[in-house]
Amino acid sequence: MKKILVLDFGSQYSALIIKAYRKLNIYAELIRYDTPIDKIKLQNVKGIILSGGPLSVFDKNKNTLSCDVKSLQKIAPVFGICYGMQLIANQWGAKLSSETHREYGLNHIQWSDPLIKTIPKKHKVWMSHGDSIIKLPPELKVLAYSNKGKEKEIPVVIKSKNLLAVQYHPEVLNTEYGNEVLKYFAKDMCKIDDNWNPETRESEIINIIKNTVGKKEKVLCALSGGVDSSVLGYALNKSLSKDQVFYFFIDTGLLRKNEFSEVLQIYKKMGLNVLGVNYSDLFINNLKDVSDPETKRKIIGKTFIKVFEKEASNFKGIEYLAQGTLYSDVIESSTKSSVSEVIKSHHNVGGLPKNLNFKLLEPFNKIFKDEVRQLGESLGIDKKILYRQPFPGPGLAIRIIGNITLEKIKILQNCDDVFIKSLKEHGLYYKIWQAFCVLLPVQSVGVQGDSRTYKFVLALRAVTSEDGMTARSYHFDPEVLESISTKITNEVSEVSRVVYDVSNKPPSTIEWE
Ligand code: XMP
Repeated sequence: MKKILVLDFGSQYSALIIKAYRKLNIYAELIRYDTPIDKIKLQNVKGIILSGGPLSVFDKNKNTLSCDVKSLQKIAPVFGICYGMQLIANQWGAKLSSETHREYGLNHIQWSDPLIKTIPKKHKVWMSHGDSIIKLPPELKVLAYSNKGKEKEIPVVIKSKNLLAVQYHPEVLNTEYGNEVLKYFAKDMCKIDDNWNPETRESEIINIIKNTVGKKEKVLCALSGGVDSSVLGYALNKSLSKDQVFYFFIDTGLLRKNEFSEVLQIYKKMGLNVLGVNYSDLFINNLKDVSDPETKRKIIGKTFIKVFEKEASNFKGIEYLAQGTLYSDVIESSTKSSVSEVIKSHHNVGGLPKNLNFKLLEPFNKIFKDEVRQLGESLGIDKKILYRQPFPGPGLAIRIIGNITLEKIKILQNCDDVFIKSLKEHGLYYKIWQAFCVLLPVQSVGVQGDSRTYKFVLALRAVTSEDGMTARSYHFDPEVLESISTKITNEVSEVSRVVYDVSNKPPSTIEWE
């Protein structure tokens, strides 16, 4: 498929560039900045973007400086964003300074020669740079300056024949007319047509599955009750013959209250022949006395694989393990395809053992959750399943801060049940991306029925989001929040205090661990 390739220099916004393009129906992918040119040439690349990053061209030790923009330009038009612009300017012999003009957050830019005639000459953009361009060689034309008075004018948009660069972040929502600039690069400079929509995505995914799994090969599909694995199960069902796919749903003992039986029912209704197996003792034992979040995640990832291997050994010839791994899981777990820092090891990516006895089938590892939902809709899956709130594979283990005990799991299951039911009663469940409770390793003093209590503190978390990459704490009506708190302390006797988490992502993540 024709694509825009984004070379990732580690900006926290890199994934937003691809998202923005995909929303414009143009396929884009993220790869490491140091991917060899020969590998890039082999792909159907129509445009190359150099992302921002936490780096400076004055840091001469950095490998990023070796990225050869002139060679990339021979493959396709190049678009530098933030650090990407400075890298281009540096390689074209411009004069840069690390002192003159730092800009972070919202700023205005002034177009002297607008790239697109329909956008205003002055508008807001999101900036995040310490170094600035002072002087450019004549072949790089300045189209816009940052608006800080005549003597301090700093070039923020530059262009030459098949080269474009902007100092600001067009991919960030706060930047006005960012989409127009991204579109200009793709359509006017790269001449790429719309090629990414729910229909093309469905056939693409089905082709990936059919082309990967041979007619005689078999697949183990681990379902979790979540959107991703459910859509995957459905896609496998549509792509392969019935005797090729074995569906499992593992009870880890870390699921929500009644989730195991409820989810098995849902799968039955979907027409998937799922085997439910209980391994809760194994998971809980393996997690005994473990408090560190990354250790928990890795243990859970490894336990899942052990369980899959054991279950697969009951059948002949299962070679593939199908997982609903998403692009965001891959990016956040920082596998080989990204230079961003490890945020957390998603159980199905960073938690996998080195010697895996399966070949992996992960047809969603290039798409985001909202795209999986759209795919689910085009496959005809019930909206009730598609719009269930996400639930992480490691389950309640990463919502019990500190060590995990059966007693804590039960308390958390009961609190979560009250919270989710209350959201449904108030008509809020589908307005919120994800809501859950976190059991804190803290006891606090309370007073109930004239007696002193010393019980657990529970944190409530509810966020709105599009894809889990960024999120905003949900703004509850205070009375609704108060009624939920009262309900929890009335119904769950081990909890005497409820707090609400008001942090966004970034700087926090959605899950606490
Ligand atoms: P964070 O906490 O990274 O979460 O902001 C982003 C989204 O990913 C989910 N999540 C996971 N899902 N395995 C999963 O299947 C995992 O290990 C995992 N960790 C986080 C999280 O619930 C949120 O929707």
